[in-house]
Amino acid sequence: MSERIFNFSAGPAVMPESVLREAQEALWSLDGTGIGVMEHSHRGSAFKAVLAQTEDACRRLAGIPDNYRVLFLQGGASSQFFTIPMNFLQAGDTADYVVTGSWSKKAVDQAKRYGNVHVAGTSEDRNFCYIPSDLDWSSKSRYTHFTSNNTIFGTEWAKEPEVPGDSPLICDMSSDIFSRPIDVKRYGMIYAGAQKNLGPSGVTLVIIRDDLVSDAALDIPEMLQYRTHAENDSCYNTPPTFGIYVMGRVFHWIEQQGGLKAIAQLNQEKADILYDFLDESVLFKPTADKDSRSLMNITFVTGKADLDAKFIATAKAAGLDGLKGHRSVGGMRASVYNAFPKAGVERLVELMRDFEAKQGEAKQGEAKQG
Ligand SMILES: Cc1ncc(COP(=O)(O)O)c(C=O)c1O
Repeated sequence: MSERIFNFSAGPAVMPESVLREAQEALWSLDGTGIGVMEHSHRGSAFKAVLAQTEDACRRLAGIPDNYRVLFLQGGASSQFFTIPMNFLQAGDTADYVVTGSWSKKAVDQAKRYGNVHVAGTSEDRNFCYIPSDLDWSSKSRYTHFTSNNTIFGTEWAKEPEVPGDSPLICDMSSDIFSRPIDVKRYGMIYAGAQKNLGPSGVTLVIIRDDLVSDAALDIPEMLQYRTHAENDSCYNTPPTFGIYVMGRVFHWIEQQGGLKAIAQLNQEKADILYDFLDESVLFKPTADKDSRSLMNITFVTGKADLDAKFIATAKAAGLDGLKGHRSVGGMRASVYNAFPKAGVERLVELMRDFEAKQGEAKQGEAKQG
């Protein structure tokens, strides 16, 4: 088998090695059944056990109260952008949105099809390099939506916004879910595409409070009603069985690491290694404001596109892949989700230090010649 390299991809992203090995085995035969996990009926007892284990582990990990439902849906986080307003926003209603990047902008665009959107705050004026603190809420909001981590721009909310009144807080946690403890009862709904911190693409985790499920619209297609999936334990139609299985193993792996508190500490340590270097580097600069930095997606530039490209190529040749930043920011992005090993961050910093020194030497050489 070929060697694995350090994968800094923003998603789909690196998975815990032990989970990949368990999945290899389960693809062949799930729990000694002689049938692979992808081949079991979603109505059979083997898959029902997988589903129950995945939900139980999710509840344990995040301390999800009993009045919340855990759903495993499809269509990615992007489908939640329209499913949320379809369920909760009638024509004439208003929902508050905080716009901190491309994904929250997309969510706003979809919501506008169904009702009024009040933008309570945005950081677009500086290309989304910060989390806005000056928020102006509307008086009668059906719900309040924000994106906890901005995958493209490398910013993250340190904690959820304080929303006045009883507008349920809805969060797109696609790129930092379970990277730190969550106080679920502060939310009406949390959703996340799995492919960064939870497993393979193709399954979307939704954690939703009972009253939101029961108050939601009835005049929309059944597949798009949260009620349908809640009443049918995510098995109204064929669920993404393999993704649900892997997600369960990832939850188990997080528990083995010591749970969300322990994983948060590890994530902080990993991010500190890179940010500490960036803060002292003369060549590489972080793009996000210090108080808004993401622990999951660390974005940085040299300020020169050709030098960025040279560094990315150098890193790739050294076995560090996926470092190219999103085109709207440029430069580099190191995605260091839960499963990304600390050794990979250390290796990256070593490489950056070396690259910086060589650039310095080259510059000195040029100056002498000139
Ligand atoms: C914060 C955030 N929200 C939503 C999405 C879209 O997710 P999906 O591709 O699952 O629709 C992404 C994808 O990168 C994301 O990072």
